[in-house]
Amino acid sequence: MSKKIAILTSGGDSQGMNAAVVAAVKSSWAKGHKPYLVYEGYKGLIENKIVEAKPELINGMISRGGTFLGSARLPEFAELKVRQKAVKVLEKIGIDSLIVIGGDGSYMGAAKLAEMGINTVGLPGTIDNDIASTDWTIGFDTSLGVVVDSIDKIRDTSESHRRAMVIEVMGRYCGDLAIYGALSTGAEILSVPESKLSEEQIIKKVNELKDSKRSLMIVVTEHMYDVNKLAKKIQEKTGVESRAHVLGYTQRGGIPTPKDRILASLLAEEAVNRIEKNEKGICLGMIGEEIKSFDILEAVKMKNPDRTDLIKRVRKLI
Ligand code: F6P
Repeated sequence: MSKKIAILTSGGDSQGMNAAVVAAVKSSWAKGHKPYLVYEGYKGLIENKIVEAKPELINGMISRGGTFLGSARLPEFAELKVRQKAVKVLEKIGIDSLIVIGGDGSYMGAAKLAEMGINTVGLPGTIDNDIASTDWTIGFDTSLGVVVDSIDKIRDTSESHRRAMVIEVMGRYCGDLAIYGALSTGAEILSVPESKLSEEQIIKKVNELKDSKRSLMIVVTEHMYDVNKLAKKIQEKTGVESRAHVLGYTQRGGIPTPKDRILASLLAEEAVNRIEKNEKGICLGMIGEEIKSFDILEAVKMKNPDRTDLIKRVRKLI
């Protein structure tokens, strides 16, 4: 039976979200369903910013960064009466299935909608790689590329000036961007939420390394330090000229890598298969080379993999 399938992106955007939307639309058409595009995330759902997908709306989008559907954070979606509005809008159009591309917060919204009778499937879209039900999130690979490129560039100028650089990367409370960024660039010092170094420990390491290195890359995850104050303190205590650099939103931009496009496309295609099987309240993830399905509420509660060993190994390479 032909289904009406809506697709939305929600939360912080990530590179590859567009590829997921395109694949969900094309796969729906290929199987004889009617795909709909929801603009502006859950907000657009409530405000009925929903249109039937047309080729001209998705053409060329696979390679674009950001999300052409727009995204929004909507904490009010936790309220039942707000969600009831969304369900009414969907019922009016006859949509019974929804693909939500986003992070943990977006998954919660999808889980609640599933309880209200909508067939929801969540796909992991965030640069943070903080969704435990997948090895890799859509956007992480592209974002990591930005991190690596930036640290390499910062290394060049720091070598010239014999400086230490405190580099703050995104990730919310997940250290993956910092860990893999440090590993890929040979950064000297790494501090992440999973294994935080005190300011004194960082200063001690700078003192140990300052004679043998012209530049010192100190990679830290956001929300852990006031990086400008930390750089000042390092300079005062070690005599090494120090600066701070916050990578910020460049990490969320740029054209998606092939890896992100492939991940997004395969997950989105499978999402349509699962909808056909009437599976609801699930999310999909890539575990190894296999697409796995999880109950979305269970997935939100799952703990990220233990990174202790990886962090130890990365620090040995410093
Ligand atoms: O979840 C993606 C992310 O970029 C985090 O790394 C960061 O903490 C947050 O979003 C920033 O959110 P906003 O776009 O609301 O400033």
